Amino acid sequence: MREPQRVRAAGLPERVTIYEVGPRDGLQNEAAVVPVEVKAEFVARLAAAGHRVIEATSFVHPKWVPQLADAAELLTSMERVPGVRYPVLVPNERGLDRALEHGVEEIAIFASATETFANRNLNRTLESQFEMFEPVVARALAHGLKVRAYVSMCFGDPWEGPTPVAQVVSVGRRLLDLGCFELSLGDTIGVGTPGHVAALVEALGGPSRLAVHFHDTYGQALANTLTALRAGVTVVDASTGGIGGCPYAESATGNLATEDLVWMLHGLGVETGLDLSSLVETSTWLAARLGRPSPSRVVQALGENPSRTTAENVEE
Ligand code: HMG
Ligand code: MG
Repeated sequence: MREPQRVRAAGLPERVTIYEVGPRDGLQNEAAVVPVEVKAEFVARLAAAGHRVIEATSFVHPKWVPQLADAAELLTSMERVPGVRYPVLVPNERGLDRALEHGVEEIAIFASATETFANRNLNRTLESQFEMFEPVVARALAHGLKVRAYVSMCFGDPWEGPTPVAQVVSVGRRLLDLGCFELSLGDTIGVGTPGHVAALVEALGGPSRLAVHFHDTYGQALANTLTALRAGVTVVDASTGGIGGCPYAESATGNLATEDLVWMLHGLGVETGLDLSSLVETSTWLAARLGRPSPSRVVQALGENPSRTTAENVEE
Protein backbone atom coordinates (compact mmCIF):
# COMPACT_ATOMS: atom_id res chain seq x y z
CA MET A 1 0.00 0.00 0.00
CA ARG A 2 1.32 3.43 -0.95
CA GLU A 3 -1.72 5.35 0.36
CA PRO A 4 -4.09 4.59 3.24
CA GLN A 5 -7.63 3.48 2.61
CA ARG A 6 -9.93 6.50 2.94
CA VAL A 7 -12.56 6.19 5.64
CA ARG A 8 -14.13 9.48 6.64
CA ALA A 9 -14.68 10.14 10.36
CA ALA A 10 -17.18 12.62 11.76
CA GLY A 11 -16.26 15.91 13.40
CA LEU A 12 -13.19 16.74 11.32
CA PRO A 13 -12.45 19.61 8.93
CA GLU A 14 -12.72 18.96 5.15
CA ARG A 15 -9.27 20.39 4.59
CA VAL A 16 -6.17 21.07 6.69
CA THR A 17 -3.34 23.47 5.91
CA ILE A 18 0.03 21.96 6.72
CA TYR A 19 2.50 24.65 7.71
CA GLU A 20 5.81 23.04 6.74
CA VAL A 21 8.70 23.86 9.09
CA GLY A 22 11.33 21.40 7.82
CA PRO A 23 13.76 23.93 6.31
CA ARG A 24 13.66 26.02 9.51
CA ASP A 25 12.81 23.92 12.59
CA GLY A 26 14.15 20.80 10.86
CA LEU A 27 17.52 22.13 9.82
CA GLN A 28 18.20 24.50 12.75
CA ASN A 29 19.10 21.54 14.94
CA GLU A 30 21.41 19.66 12.56
CA ALA A 31 24.93 19.12 13.89
CA ALA A 32 26.45 19.89 10.48
CA VAL A 33 25.52 22.96 8.47
CA VAL A 34 23.59 21.94 5.35
CA PRO A 35 24.90 23.66 2.17
CA VAL A 36 22.67 26.46 0.92
CA GLU A 37 22.14 24.75 -2.48
CA VAL A 38 20.72 21.71 -0.68
CA LYS A 39 18.38 23.97 1.33
CA ALA A 40 17.19 25.70 -1.86
CA GLU A 41 16.52 22.34 -3.50
CA PHE A 42 14.71 21.14 -0.35
CA VAL A 43 12.39 24.17 -0.44
CA ALA A 44 11.76 23.70 -4.19
CA ARG A 45 10.93 20.01 -3.71
CA LEU A 46 8.45 20.88 -0.93
CA ALA A 47 6.63 23.36 -3.18
CA ALA A 48 6.58 20.76 -5.99
CA ALA A 49 5.01 18.24 -3.57
CA GLY A 50 2.10 20.65 -3.10
CA HIS A 51 3.06 22.69 -0.02
CA ARG A 52 1.59 26.19 -0.03
CA VAL A 53 3.33 27.42 3.13
CA ILE A 54 6.99 26.64 3.77
CA GLU A 55 8.88 28.25 6.67
CA ALA A 56 12.16 28.80 4.87
CA THR A 57 14.69 30.00 7.46
CA SER A 58 15.35 32.38 10.41
CA PHE A 59 16.78 35.87 10.66
CA VAL A 60 18.06 35.26 14.17
CA HIS A 61 21.55 36.01 15.43
CA PRO A 62 23.91 33.87 13.28
CA LYS A 63 26.01 32.98 16.34
CA TRP A 64 22.93 31.68 18.15
CA VAL A 65 21.87 29.44 15.25
CA PRO A 66 24.83 28.99 12.86
CA GLN A 67 22.87 26.36 10.93
CA LEU A 68 20.68 29.14 9.49
CA ALA A 69 23.34 31.86 9.19
CA ASP A 70 22.92 31.66 5.40
CA ALA A 71 19.31 32.97 5.54
CA ALA A 72 20.03 35.91 3.23
CA GLU A 73 21.86 33.71 0.72
CA LEU A 74 19.03 31.19 0.74
CA LEU A 75 16.38 33.83 0.09
CA THR A 76 18.43 35.27 -2.75
CA SER A 77 19.03 31.90 -4.40
CA MET A 78 15.83 29.92 -3.84
CA GLU A 79 12.99 29.78 -6.33
CA ARG A 80 9.72 31.34 -5.11
CA VAL A 81 6.67 29.72 -6.65
CA PRO A 82 3.68 32.09 -7.08
CA GLY A 83 0.94 31.28 -4.56
CA VAL A 84 3.36 29.70 -2.08
CA ARG A 85 4.05 31.53 1.20
CA TYR A 86 7.62 31.45 2.51
CA PRO A 87 7.54 32.83 6.09
CA VAL A 88 10.75 33.30 8.07
CA LEU A 89 11.42 33.51 11.81
CA VAL A 90 12.24 36.99 13.10
CA PRO A 91 12.89 37.75 16.79
CA ASN A 92 13.71 41.45 16.77
CA GLU A 93 14.04 44.63 14.71
CA ARG A 94 17.49 43.69 13.41
CA GLY A 95 15.98 40.45 12.12
CA LEU A 96 13.08 42.35 10.57
CA ASP A 97 15.47 44.72 8.76
CA ARG A 98 17.28 41.74 7.28
CA ALA A 99 14.00 40.08 6.27
CA LEU A 100 12.72 43.28 4.60
CA GLU A 101 15.99 43.64 2.66
CA HIS A 102 15.31 40.22 1.15
CA GLY A 103 11.72 40.69 0.05
CA VAL A 104 10.08 38.61 2.77
CA GLU A 105 6.27 38.92 2.83
CA GLU A 106 5.50 36.95 6.00
CA ILE A 107 7.33 36.58 9.30
CA ALA A 108 6.86 34.61 12.49
CA ILE A 109 7.82 35.91 15.91
CA PHE A 110 8.44 33.33 18.62
CA ALA A 111 7.64 33.90 22.27
CA SER A 112 8.02 31.75 25.34
CA ALA A 113 5.31 30.80 27.82
CA THR A 114 7.96 30.36 30.51
CA GLU A 115 10.56 32.57 32.16
CA THR A 116 13.48 30.17 31.79
CA PHE A 117 13.00 29.50 28.09
CA ALA A 118 12.51 33.23 27.36
CA ASN A 119 15.90 33.71 28.93
CA ARG A 120 17.63 30.80 27.22
CA ASN A 121 16.12 31.20 23.75
CA LEU A 122 15.77 34.98 23.50
CA ASN A 123 18.05 36.39 26.19
CA ARG A 124 14.98 38.19 27.56
CA THR A 125 12.62 37.87 30.52
CA LEU A 126 9.05 36.68 30.03
CA GLU A 127 7.95 40.30 30.27
CA SER A 128 10.71 41.95 28.25
CA GLN A 129 10.19 39.61 25.26
CA PHE A 130 7.09 41.70 24.51
CA GLU A 131 9.16 44.91 24.38
CA MET A 132 11.24 43.17 21.71
CA PHE A 133 8.23 41.95 19.69
CA GLU A 134 6.00 45.06 19.81
CA PRO A 135 8.02 47.23 17.40
CA VAL A 136 8.70 44.21 15.15
CA VAL A 137 5.00 43.50 14.70
CA ALA A 138 4.06 47.19 14.34
CA ARG A 139 6.68 47.82 11.68
CA ALA A 140 6.02 44.54 9.86
CA LEU A 141 2.28 45.30 9.66
CA ALA A 142 3.04 48.84 8.45
CA HIS A 143 5.08 47.26 5.63
CA GLY A 144 2.11 45.04 4.73
CA LEU A 145 3.66 41.81 6.03
CA LYS A 146 1.67 39.01 7.61
CA VAL A 147 2.84 38.17 11.14
CA ARG A 148 2.41 34.78 12.79
CA ALA A 149 3.26 34.19 16.45
CA TYR A 150 4.53 31.09 18.14
CA VAL A 151 4.31 30.43 21.83
CA SER A 152 6.78 27.81 23.02
CA MET A 153 6.69 25.48 26.04
CA CYS A 154 2.88 25.45 26.06
CA PHE A 155 2.65 22.08 27.81
CA GLY A 156 5.79 21.88 29.87
CA ASP A 157 9.31 23.21 30.19
CA PRO A 158 12.47 21.18 30.91
CA TRP A 159 13.55 23.53 33.70
CA GLU A 160 10.20 24.63 35.20
CA GLY A 161 8.08 21.48 34.75
CA PRO A 162 4.39 21.74 33.81
CA THR A 163 3.32 25.07 32.29
CA PRO A 164 0.09 26.46 33.79
CA VAL A 165 -2.63 26.81 31.12
CA ALA A 166 -3.41 30.34 32.35
CA GLN A 167 0.19 31.40 31.67
CA VAL A 168 0.00 30.17 28.06
CA VAL A 169 -3.34 31.91 27.60
CA SER A 170 -1.93 35.18 28.92
CA VAL A 171 1.13 35.10 26.61
CA GLY A 172 -0.94 33.91 23.64
CA ARG A 173 -3.59 36.62 24.01
CA ARG A 174 -0.94 39.32 24.22
CA LEU A 175 0.67 38.07 21.00
CA LEU A 176 -2.67 38.02 19.16
CA ASP A 177 -3.46 41.50 20.50
CA LEU A 178 -0.25 42.80 18.91
CA GLY A 179 -1.89 42.04 15.54
CA CYS A 180 -0.58 38.57 14.72
CA PHE A 181 -2.97 36.73 12.39
CA GLU A 182 -2.26 33.30 13.86
CA LEU A 183 -0.97 31.78 17.08
CA SER A 184 0.90 28.49 16.88
CA LEU A 185 0.86 26.52 20.12
CA GLY A 186 4.31 24.97 20.50
CA ASP A 187 4.90 21.76 22.40
CA THR A 188 8.63 22.34 22.15
CA ILE A 189 9.61 19.24 24.14
CA GLY A 190 6.69 17.02 23.14
CA VAL A 191 5.25 16.38 26.61
CA GLY A 192 1.60 17.31 25.93
CA THR A 193 -1.24 14.81 25.88
CA PRO A 194 -4.69 15.02 24.23
CA GLY A 195 -6.73 16.16 27.25
CA HIS A 196 -4.28 18.97 27.84
CA VAL A 197 -4.51 20.03 24.19
CA ALA A 198 -8.31 20.16 24.33
CA ALA A 199 -8.19 22.16 27.58
CA LEU A 200 -5.73 24.69 26.15
CA VAL A 201 -7.72 25.26 22.95
CA GLU A 202 -10.85 25.76 25.04
CA ALA A 203 -9.08 28.12 27.45
CA LEU A 204 -7.96 30.20 24.47
CA GLY A 205 -11.61 30.66 23.48
CA GLY A 206 -11.78 28.04 20.72
CA PRO A 207 -9.88 27.26 17.53
CA SER A 208 -10.14 30.59 15.74
CA ARG A 209 -6.65 31.87 14.72
CA LEU A 210 -4.94 28.86 16.35
CA ALA A 211 -2.40 26.46 14.85
CA VAL A 212 -0.63 23.58 16.59
CA HIS A 213 3.07 22.72 16.60
CA PHE A 214 3.91 19.39 18.15
CA HIS A 215 7.32 17.86 18.64
CA ASP A 216 7.12 14.08 18.89
CA THR A 217 9.51 13.35 21.76
CA TYR A 218 6.99 11.21 23.65
CA GLY A 219 5.11 9.85 20.60
CA GLN A 220 2.06 12.01 21.31
CA ALA A 221 2.14 14.31 18.29
CA LEU A 222 -0.44 12.55 16.10
CA ALA A 223 -2.88 11.94 18.95
CA ASN A 224 -2.52 15.58 20.00
CA THR A 225 -3.07 16.74 16.43
CA LEU A 226 -6.23 14.68 16.03
CA THR A 227 -7.53 16.18 19.26
CA ALA A 228 -6.81 19.70 17.99
CA LEU A 229 -8.57 18.93 14.68
CA ARG A 230 -11.62 17.66 16.56
CA ALA A 231 -11.60 20.94 18.49
CA GLY A 232 -11.74 22.80 15.14
CA VAL A 233 -8.10 23.71 14.48
CA THR A 234 -7.28 23.56 10.74
CA VAL A 235 -3.60 24.62 10.60
CA VAL A 236 -1.00 22.06 11.66
CA ASP A 237 2.78 22.55 11.68
CA ALA A 238 4.88 19.59 10.60
CA SER A 239 8.35 18.84 9.36
CA THR A 240 9.19 16.67 6.36
CA GLY A 241 10.69 13.41 7.54
CA GLY A 242 10.16 14.40 11.20
CA ILE A 243 13.50 16.18 11.46
CA GLY A 244 14.02 19.04 13.88
CA GLY A 245 14.23 20.35 17.40
CA CYS A 246 15.28 23.46 19.22
CA PRO A 247 18.97 23.93 20.06
CA TYR A 248 17.98 25.91 23.18
CA ALA A 249 15.57 23.33 24.64
CA GLU A 250 16.83 20.18 26.27
CA SER A 251 15.10 17.04 24.97
CA ALA A 252 13.42 18.73 22.01
CA THR A 253 13.42 16.08 19.30
CA GLY A 254 11.92 16.20 15.84
CA ASN A 255 8.59 17.70 14.90
CA LEU A 256 5.57 15.70 13.93
CA ALA A 257 6.58 14.22 10.56
CA THR A 258 4.63 15.65 7.63
CA GLU A 259 4.34 12.20 6.02
CA ASP A 260 2.89 10.62 9.20
CA LEU A 261 0.36 13.45 9.42
CA VAL A 262 -0.54 13.19 5.72
CA TRP A 263 -1.06 9.42 6.01
CA MET A 264 -3.52 9.98 8.86
CA LEU A 265 -5.32 12.90 7.19
CA HIS A 266 -5.69 11.20 3.81
CA GLY A 267 -6.91 8.07 5.59
CA LEU A 268 -9.54 10.23 7.28
CA GLY A 269 -10.53 11.76 3.93
CA VAL A 270 -9.17 15.20 4.94
CA GLU A 271 -7.65 17.12 2.02
CA THR A 272 -4.10 18.46 2.27
CA GLY A 273 -3.19 19.20 -1.36
CA LEU A 274 0.01 17.19 -0.82
CA ASP A 275 1.45 14.31 -2.79
CA LEU A 276 2.61 11.72 -0.27
CA SER A 277 5.00 9.90 -2.57
CA SER A 278 6.80 13.16 -3.48
CA LEU A 279 7.18 13.94 0.22
CA VAL A 280 8.62 10.50 0.94
CA GLU A 281 11.00 10.87 -2.00
CA THR A 282 12.15 14.25 -0.66
CA SER A 283 12.72 12.86 2.83
CA THR A 284 14.71 9.96 1.42
CA TRP A 285 16.77 12.40 -0.66
CA LEU A 286 17.33 14.64 2.40
CA ALA A 287 18.22 11.72 4.68
CA ALA A 288 21.02 10.81 2.25
CA ARG A 289 22.36 14.36 2.54
CA LEU A 290 22.05 14.41 6.34
CA GLY A 291 23.68 10.99 6.56
CA ARG A 292 21.01 9.30 8.68
CA PRO A 293 17.59 7.75 8.14
CA SER A 294 14.42 9.82 8.46
CA PRO A 295 12.70 9.43 11.86
CA SER A 296 9.29 9.38 10.11
CA ARG A 297 7.54 6.02 10.37
CA VAL A 298 5.78 6.53 7.04
CA VAL A 299 9.07 7.37 5.32
CA GLN A 300 10.59 4.24 6.84
CA ALA A 301 7.65 2.17 5.58
CA LEU A 302 7.45 3.65 2.08
CA GLY A 303 10.96 4.97 1.38
CA GLU A 304 13.71 3.40 -0.67
CA ASN A 305 15.18 1.05 1.88
CA PRO A 306 15.92 -2.52 0.83
CA SER A 307 15.51 -3.88 4.37
CA ARG A 308 11.98 -2.57 4.86
CA THR A 309 9.13 -5.00 5.35
CA THR A 310 6.03 -3.19 4.18
CA ALA A 311 2.77 -4.77 3.19
CA GLU A 312 3.87 -4.23 -0.41
CA ASN A 313 7.01 -6.31 0.13
CA VAL A 314 4.98 -9.06 1.76
CA GLU A 315 2.57 -9.18 -1.18
CA GLU A 316 5.45 -9.53 -3.68
P1 HMG B 1 21.01 39.31 22.16
O1 HMG B 1 22.39 38.85 22.34
O2 HMG B 1 20.23 39.72 23.37
O3 HMG B 1 20.94 40.44 21.06
O4 HMG B 1 20.20 38.12 21.43
P2 HMG B 1 21.12 42.01 21.22
O5 HMG B 1 19.79 42.62 20.84
O6 HMG B 1 21.69 42.34 22.56
O7 HMG B 1 22.20 42.34 20.10
C1 HMG B 1 23.57 41.89 20.23
C2 HMG B 1 24.24 41.93 18.87
O8 HMG B 1 23.63 40.98 18.02
C3 HMG B 1 24.13 43.26 18.13
O9 HMG B 1 25.32 43.41 17.37
C4 HMG B 1 22.99 43.04 17.18
O10 HMG B 1 23.06 43.83 15.99
C5 HMG B 1 23.18 41.58 16.83
P3 HMG B 1 26.44 44.50 17.82
O11 HMG B 1 25.70 45.80 17.81
O12 HMG B 1 26.84 44.05 19.19
O13 HMG B 1 27.47 44.31 16.79
N1 HMG B 1 21.88 41.00 16.47
C6 HMG B 1 21.59 40.39 15.32
N2 HMG B 1 22.31 40.10 14.22
C7 HMG B 1 21.68 39.48 13.21
N3 HMG B 1 20.36 39.14 13.24
C8 HMG B 1 19.62 39.38 14.33
C9 HMG B 1 20.24 40.03 15.42
N4 HMG B 1 19.78 40.41 16.62
C10 HMG B 1 20.77 41.00 17.26
N5 HMG B 1 18.33 39.05 14.35
C11 HMG B 1 18.40 37.34 20.06
C12 HMG B 1 18.81 38.21 21.24
C13 HMG B 1 16.90 37.27 20.05
C14 HMG B 1 18.92 37.97 18.78
C15 HMG B 1 19.03 35.92 20.22
O14 HMG B 1 18.66 35.44 21.46
C16 HMG B 1 18.60 34.95 19.15
O15 HMG B 1 18.97 35.08 17.98
N6 HMG B 1 17.77 33.93 19.53
C17 HMG B 1 17.22 32.99 18.57
C18 HMG B 1 17.24 31.60 19.12
C19 HMG B 1 16.57 30.67 18.12
O16 HMG B 1 16.55 30.90 16.91
N7 HMG B 1 15.98 29.54 18.63
C20 HMG B 1 15.32 28.59 17.79
C21 HMG B 1 14.02 29.07 17.24
S1 HMG B 1 12.68 28.98 18.40
C22 HMG B 1 12.05 27.37 18.22
O17 HMG B 1 12.65 26.54 17.58
C23 HMG B 1 10.69 27.05 18.80
C24 HMG B 1 9.58 26.94 17.74
O18 HMG B 1 9.88 25.93 16.79
C25 HMG B 1 8.24 26.61 18.42
C26 HMG B 1 8.31 25.45 19.40
O19 HMG B 1 8.78 24.36 19.02
O20 HMG B 1 7.88 25.65 20.53
C27 HMG B 1 9.40 28.26 16.98
MG1 MG C 1 9.55 23.80 17.08
